[in-house]
Amino acid sequence: MRRLEGKVALCTGSGRHHGLGEAILQRLAAEGCRVVVTDLGRPDALLQSGNIGTTEEMESVVRGLREQGADAIGVPLDVRDEDQVQAAIAAAVGAFGRLDVLINNAGIGFLMEPLLEVTRERWQAVLDVNLMGAFLCTKHAAKQMIAQGGGGRIVNIASQAAKSGHMHMAAYTSSKHGLVGFTRTAAMELGPHGITVNAICPNHVTTGLGAVQNEYFAKFRGFPSVDAYLADMRNRIPLRRVGLAADTAAACAWLCSDDAAYVTGEAMNVSGGVEMH
Ligand SMILES: NC(=O)c1ccc[n+]([C@@H]2O[C@H](COP(=O)([O-])OP(=O)(O)OC[C@H]3O[C@@H](n4cnc5c(N)ncnc54)[C@H](O)[C@@H]3O)[C@@H](O)[C@H]2O)c1
Repeated sequence: MRRLEGKVALCTGSGRHHGLGEAILQRLAAEGCRVVVTDLGRPDALLQSGNIGTTEEMESVVRGLREQGADAIGVPLDVRDEDQVQAAIAAAVGAFGRLDVLINNAGIGFLMEPLLEVTRERWQAVLDVNLMGAFLCTKHAAKQMIAQGGGGRIVNIASQAAKSGHMHMAAYTSSKHGLVGFTRTAAMELGPHGITVNAICPNHVTTGLGAVQNEYFAKFRGFPSVDAYLADMRNRIPLRRVGLAADTAAACAWLCSDDAAYVTGEAMNVSGGVEMH
């Protein structure tokens, strides 16, 4: 279980309880990583406090990791801001001496609307966080990994929406498909430095973001309740349950381990079989 002893891992958008980022860092810490929790911290006009990791929640996630026995720090990071990206990586290196693992997990997935109503601004907001943010973090994390030597691991949290279309999620689906293309190209360019780059494509997980999607799609598809909507979803998943944050976290830990040393450029479904290509 401690396959990652002494490694240093930074995960973006990991400052919300019950989010994929928190679960990923809990698992990486259990495998021996020292961990850097980062999140937006402050709400803005579009990213309201109900949908983001606030500074207080991020600090609470850090406390939880320390209670688990992990070496953990918290650093505010808006992935759209290149200066903040560089500062967060410098903070990780300042605290722990190196950076071995980057998990690009920050994402906006709570803006659902018909294509004909999507504004340029909202389209751009989703692409900025989900795709440009992953690019900026990868670029600067890879520079650090190359400078320190010894390779590294980058995992992009994509989605089932990286493989198939999803109603009323044009920007999200485009950003996640784009993230797979970015993963493949980054894998080619960073492979010679011993850095693997892979994506994970989870199906539905009832996180904060997932719960907003459930409310919207239950109503949109005419279900009497969210429970009825989820029961229908479970019936269409070969393994008959929705995803857990721990499922994605386990896949992440494997991709970061030596067991996955020869795996790069993959977009791996963690979907109970509902997505198979
Ligand atoms: N929950 C699901 O069903 C599901 C399925 C597939 C993929 N995903 C992906 O998993 C990732 C995590 O989502 P989650 O479900 O855990 O929800 P979540 O809301 O817990 O996590 C998203 C995080 O992204 C952060 N974020 C948003 N804008 C940011 C910015 N500009 N800079 C830094 N952080 C920012 C938020 O503060 C939040 O902490 C997302 O990329 C999402 O698209 C989720």
